[in-house]
Amino acid sequence: MKEQLQKLREQAMDELAKCEAQNELTEWKVQYLGKKGELTSILRGMGQLSPEKRPLVGQLVNDVRSALEHAYEQKEAELKRKALEEKLKAEAIDVTLPGRMVPVGVVHPLNRVIREIEDIFIGLGFEVAEGPEVETDYYNFEALNIPKNHPARDMQDTFYLTEEILMRTHTSPVQVRTLEAKKGTVPVRIICPGRVYRRDDDDATHSHLFTQVEGLVVDRQIRMSDLKGILLTFARQMFGPEQQIRLRPSYFPFTEPSTEVDVTCMACRGDGCRICKHTGWIEILGAGMVHPRVLEMAGYDSETYTGFAFGMGVERIAMLKYGVDDIRYFYVNDVRFLKQFASRS
Ligand code: DAH
Repeated sequence: MKEQLQKLREQAMDELAKCEAQNELTEWKVQYLGKKGELTSILRGMGQLSPEKRPLVGQLVNDVRSALEHAYEQKEAELKRKALEEKLKAEAIDVTLPGRMVPVGVVHPLNRVIREIEDIFIGLGFEVAEGPEVETDYYNFEALNIPKNHPARDMQDTFYLTEEILMRTHTSPVQVRTLEAKKGTVPVRIICPGRVYRRDDDDATHSHLFTQVEGLVVDRQIRMSDLKGILLTFARQMFGPEQQIRLRPSYFPFTEPSTEVDVTCMACRGDGCRICKHTGWIEILGAGMVHPRVLEMAGYDSETYTGFAFGMGVERIAMLKYGVDDIRYFYVNDVRFLKQFASRS
């Protein structure tokens, strides 16, 4: 019996050494240490032994059992450690590898300029308004003091949809819509960015679709000097602190007096170059004091209230700011063009 136990122990130890996974280990345990295992069956056979031998063999069986149990625990710990090591190895992350670049879009240069203009005017207390691109003749022309047959209508070749409905030729109708919505109350301080449409033949400086930003301020005692101050502040924030502006007399039916506004040429800082046609100045917008008739038509008492308005072309500003020499680049969506604006401010 002693030999039988010894053999069993050796056999169990040999097989334990061969176990390579937890399931094999479990099988091993059932086979040698389980209730129906080999040790147990030896223990059962002890009944046939003489009473003197029993404690001896009992002791031996217990020794073998505890040796096997101990070996089992060690093996189990070893397998667990190995499994963990393998897992760590397989899931290792090399933190020194460069990251994979995720392609990110960029803000379109026109939207970028619009946002910049909005930020500047919001900082000056303006709100951003919107209006429809499909407009009525009334808002686009009549309410802006441009009656039918007025020669100023020729200045703006219009896409008519019907006799009364058209694609707006400028963002100025939003002035009237805003004034009507405010119902005679002040202050009115808005800018309105948006698309406008004209029957132009497209070339490097003309497009049948382009973008304007309109501005309007109406309150008591608004003067031309307010207009000048706002536009100077705008020019300096947009193009740099050294900027000067210059107002030249002009004509728009919806303003009186009317002016065209130049800023210092950003290419030559005013010295004169090809871009500013050697004048040192670049025209960027039209402006003026809101015509009393426009105020009256929109329900404002022009004796009490005055205002100024301005309108600028966004493409023109973007072209000057970024040195773009063809307006069509803004619309063809060539990624090689657009990508260049990824890191510019
Ligand atoms: N609407 C004019 C245009 O499209 C630009 C303009 C000029 C707007 C003078 C104004 C303004 O608000 O006061 O050419």
